[in-house]
Amino acid sequence: MKFNFSDSVLGMKPSEIRELNKMASTPGLISLGGGMPSPETFPKKDLEDIMNYVMENYADLALQYGNTLGNDSAREVIADMLKKTEGIQAASKNIIINSGSQQGLYELATVLANPGDTIITEEPTYVGAVSAFSANQLRMEGVEMDQQGMIVEGLEGTIRKLMGDGRKPRFIYVIPTFQNPTGYTMPEERRKVLIEISETYNIPLVEDNPYGQLRYYGKNVDSIRSMKNGENTIYLGTFSKVMTPGLRLGYTIAPDEVMEKFNLIKQALDLATNSFSQYVAMEYVKRGVIYRQIEENKKIYKVKRDRMVSALREYMDGVARWSEPEGGMFVWATLNGNIDTRMMREQAMRNGVAYVSGQAFTTNNTQKSSMRLNFTFGSVEQIEEGIKRIRKTVDSYIEKH
Ligand SMILES: Cc1ncc(COP(=O)(O)O)c(C=O)c1O
Repeated sequence: MKFNFSDSVLGMKPSEIRELNKMASTPGLISLGGGMPSPETFPKKDLEDIMNYVMENYADLALQYGNTLGNDSAREVIADMLKKTEGIQAASKNIIINSGSQQGLYELATVLANPGDTIITEEPTYVGAVSAFSANQLRMEGVEMDQQGMIVEGLEGTIRKLMGDGRKPRFIYVIPTFQNPTGYTMPEERRKVLIEISETYNIPLVEDNPYGQLRYYGKNVDSIRSMKNGENTIYLGTFSKVMTPGLRLGYTIAPDEVMEKFNLIKQALDLATNSFSQYVAMEYVKRGVIYRQIEENKKIYKVKRDRMVSALREYMDGVARWSEPEGGMFVWATLNGNIDTRMMREQAMRNGVAYVSGQAFTTNNTQKSSMRLNFTFGSVEQIEEGIKRIRKTVDSYIEKH
């Protein structure tokens, strides 16, 4: 049989991160590559109690198909949680519960754009978003970032240019807080400008915020969705980093008319999100375990973030520059001297350390000398040793080239 594949799948590239996950079990390899939370943050005992409780009290419903947009009580509980943690005022009818925010990204692309349409992202951007958008055959136009996130002055120019070419962008996708991959956070002033640009040009703004609840330093910056005139922003959130990614639960907040379309597409995708997970998450929030766990995660990750930053200062000074994020899960390091981090990756693996090269996150084939380093998964010892091994790799790579 000769299979003929769709243009959409033929246009997709295998993800470097998927390759990396395959390597993760190689003995002795320290992975700073994946984007995984630490299993020590999984609230195992609480989840065990909650799962037993759900089985004892709600088994008939929790094991049944559920509503397409999500369990109504769970949507209310999420609305309530977002008021507390993000200051977001959203009605439960404007929340859809998805199989991870990853599914939310896919839905968004299907609902808001046609194949061949252009959307705007940060450059670099989240590799999973690139995959969801590519699967829908969208063209991505990346707007450059500095340490304050997307350079909004550049955004307006990009929009005008695209409009001049008859390619008005269908939406603007940003991760304004502790961005993946850079760790950068956009200050309030720029967020205001984003809202203004979105309104002026009538281009929907999408805020993806999986890390906002994980701040270790500095003052909170309000989410765009919670700001004045931010109500039209489509907002994605997740339980992956503050409960467990294994239960696959995320959510999207959107205006009424967008919800109607999400409803249609969600039926095509999986009819409804896992009912059992929703019951568990609902109880997890209702009992307040989530708020305790967020504080616990912050304590654990702050120590790891600090160790990564101090190891970078100790071992990478003079050969790289890097972000020192106030929260989230990633540091973005850029090597001096045009070293291609993708080319260097194999050597790094041989030296027992893995990272994701900058090119995995690019929309326009740049970021060649950068790498994303995750500080949540490994132990502090592994983090320090991993950075040491990267330095060793850089030195031998420079010698050979
Ligand atoms: C920016 C961003 N968006 C979305 C996701 C997807 O998360 P999940 O599908 O687990 O909710 C991630 C996961 O790493 C992410 O970093």
